[in-house]
Amino acid sequence: MKAKLLALAMIGMMFATTFAGTAGASVDAVPAIADVVNVGASAAASDVSIYKDPNQPVDARVEDLLSRMTLDEKIEQMHGNMADPETMSTIYNSRLGIPGFNFSDGPRGERWGYTTTFPVGIACGATWNEGLEYLVGVVMGNETSARGRDVIFAPCMNLVRDSHGGRSQETYGEDTWHVGRMGVALIEGIQSEGAMACAKHYAANSDENNRHQKNSILDPRTLYEIYLPHFKMAVVEADVASVMPAYNRLNGEYCAGNYQLLRQILKGEWGFDGLTVSDWFGTEGPIVEHIESFGGPMLNSQLPINFIKMVASNTNPNATGIKSPTPYDAIQAGLDVEMPEPYLYNYEFNVLASSGQIQQYLIDDAVRRILRAKFEYGLFDEPKKANDAFVETPEHIALTREVEHEAAVLLKNDGNTLPFDIGAIKSIAVIGPAADDKDRLGDHGSSNAQPTPEKLITTLMGIKNKVGSGVKVSYDNGSDPAAAAELAKTCDAAVVVVGRNYLEEAEAKDLDSLALSGTQPELINAVCSANKNSVVVLIAGSAVTMQEWIANAPAILMAWYPGMEGGNAIADIVFGDVCPSGRIPITFPKSEDQLPLFDSYKMDDVYSYYHGYRYFDKNNLEPLFPFGYGLSYTTFEYSNMKIDKSIIGLDGKVKVSVDVKNTGDVAGDEVVQLYIGYEGSKVERSVKDLKGFNKVFLQPGEKKTVTIEVAAENVSYYSAGLGKFVVEPITYNVLVGASSRDIRETGLFRISENQAEVDAENQKSAKTPGFEVALAFVALGAISIILRKKRL
Ligand code: BGC
Repeated sequence: MKAKLLALAMIGMMFATTFAGTAGASVDAVPAIADVVNVGASAAASDVSIYKDPNQPVDARVEDLLSRMTLDEKIEQMHGNMADPETMSTIYNSRLGIPGFNFSDGPRGERWGYTTTFPVGIACGATWNEGLEYLVGVVMGNETSARGRDVIFAPCMNLVRDSHGGRSQETYGEDTWHVGRMGVALIEGIQSEGAMACAKHYAANSDENNRHQKNSILDPRTLYEIYLPHFKMAVVEADVASVMPAYNRLNGEYCAGNYQLLRQILKGEWGFDGLTVSDWFGTEGPIVEHIESFGGPMLNSQLPINFIKMVASNTNPNATGIKSPTPYDAIQAGLDVEMPEPYLYNYEFNVLASSGQIQQYLIDDAVRRILRAKFEYGLFDEPKKANDAFVETPEHIALTREVEHEAAVLLKNDGNTLPFDIGAIKSIAVIGPAADDKDRLGDHGSSNAQPTPEKLITTLMGIKNKVGSGVKVSYDNGSDPAAAAELAKTCDAAVVVVGRNYLEEAEAKDLDSLALSGTQPELINAVCSANKNSVVVLIAGSAVTMQEWIANAPAILMAWYPGMEGGNAIADIVFGDVCPSGRIPITFPKSEDQLPLFDSYKMDDVYSYYHGYRYFDKNNLEPLFPFGYGLSYTTFEYSNMKIDKSIIGLDGKVKVSVDVKNTGDVAGDEVVQLYIGYEGSKVERSVKDLKGFNKVFLQPGEKKTVTIEVAAENVSYYSAGLGKFVVEPITYNVLVGASSRDIRETGLFRISENQAEVDAENQKSAKTPGFEVALAFVALGAISIILRKKRL
């Protein structure tokens, strides 16, 4: 982790102690045993307090409590608080003193009230900095606790299958490995603060229109290799506390009632012991689609629940012929908590369970998971105490600025237009619809975190803050491109801030086009023609096509939706106080013609094995900007790549090291990316897949060795026939570089199924240095003999 992050890690340590409530505080709130009217006959007075005793093992507490609960009480644990759905909570059981969950949303900040608002998920993805993302998680986890919430619905781990997807902004990017690494970092940060994270939306959820009906159709390889591994990382590596099944159907079954997805893979193959929480109304299927198409993206607590239900009651759920999950589907599949209301886990469910038609052990499995999480995350013993003083602290806000520093991607910089020289500029024009719009933090859906309005810095404000009173800053909203160009002409430099807003790309709303809307292209062309010292700053949540204007723009900075300190961070980069180090985590196409047809209203949507850079590689297409690309104010040289082993076994690992040197004049970060290609695979493989990355900070002239490990299991493919991953004994190409299309160093290693061959080869190479040293001594001896003889 970089040195500057160490200081920030201190914030984490500070937080860790801040919210440790008084142990046992909630125990006092638990009713006395005299109030317990339904204790099972086996509950002897001596063991009554097991579940209340923080010193008992969690499993013992769970079993004790479970044994005291009636069927009604168990089912009550499994759904939202119908009495007040807007509280985003589950029910408090007063008889036994079982706390309910208090949920909150993410991932651009904890969303309960005004909070520290980070750049959106895709911007965090563009940092390629796991250490930094961990700290983002620390802040989010901390603020979740400080708002008295137990669970934050973050990270969003969707894959950007196509940049039109309205929630591209919420996730980290298009690549499975990259999304997995960044998600793990956020989860570990959140959970280090005693809050529960929730990996969402599981799985194959990548576009919005029609989201409650869409049937994502995936063959086994596409599912297991592309759309699941990042969730597996969240479960197996980060031990994520909860997982949210997505709205869509997967191969015909709604994710919330999908046996293969939840029971078989998540809980079975991956051993997930946390809980699943349905997405809002995610068990209600086509009804919800109808409501949403009628009322827009309303399922984010913006409309009264009764209104939603009133519309629902006038809807014929069978009209579409799509089968919603039944209560049997959901409980058998392993849906533990249904939110926000008991649509399936309701009175009838109770009747079915009482009559034995729904098996008890399934209900017990769900309740056990719920109780275990409540014990493990301190809901019984250390209930969260809301304390606003710990929200939006200066340290938290400063972190949002640092994230944007590392997230903004310099896409173009002809003739070193940037950074602007503050000493040489007397006047600057700040132009465009996004330049001073406070509503450009991302969409208004469930992730709509907002800071205290006065704490939000637009680009115009950031530039004013930066240049001070010595430079004249003029603003124009860009509605009249000709007038804006006139203004730009009179200034020493121009910053054109354009992009998208929450109406164009959002939850429940996919993008109609990747081009900039309205007169924005015209505005860029006019201003950049009027003033060659111009930069275009893009505020948006996914790829932008630029054919109409890119030739005229000398410099382009992709700022994403940049968080509450976005304006300051953008100014830091534009004026060179910070060297840009973001790299795009999605492919920017030249035009939409390069992409497969995007039809997000399609009911049955066959997911391809290829998308993003893997699609561009396979089809030999030249993107506008490739995955992993980004410029800097300095340059980096790669050399001396080494792979520590030329051959490994089926469960082996190689260490790839490469020297990276900063060959420019300013300090900067490089994102070293490692891709793997496959030689002679017996199945079709991608041209290359990202399998590792590492961000490294270098002073001018400094050189560091970057090491990335690749494990054999991570280059395997999924065999549908065998029903498992297969590590192939073939040769693997190691491609290390600065982007998916800028490979600087290459090498090979082989995987062998013959362990004797692997051992022999490794012994040989282990002996090699000794042998070389011996040879050198022999040679030196011979030379000295010759020299001595000559002297004689
Ligand atoms: C979104 C989820 C969110 C939930 C609760 C849903 O509409 O899809 O991401 O966590 O609402 O707000």
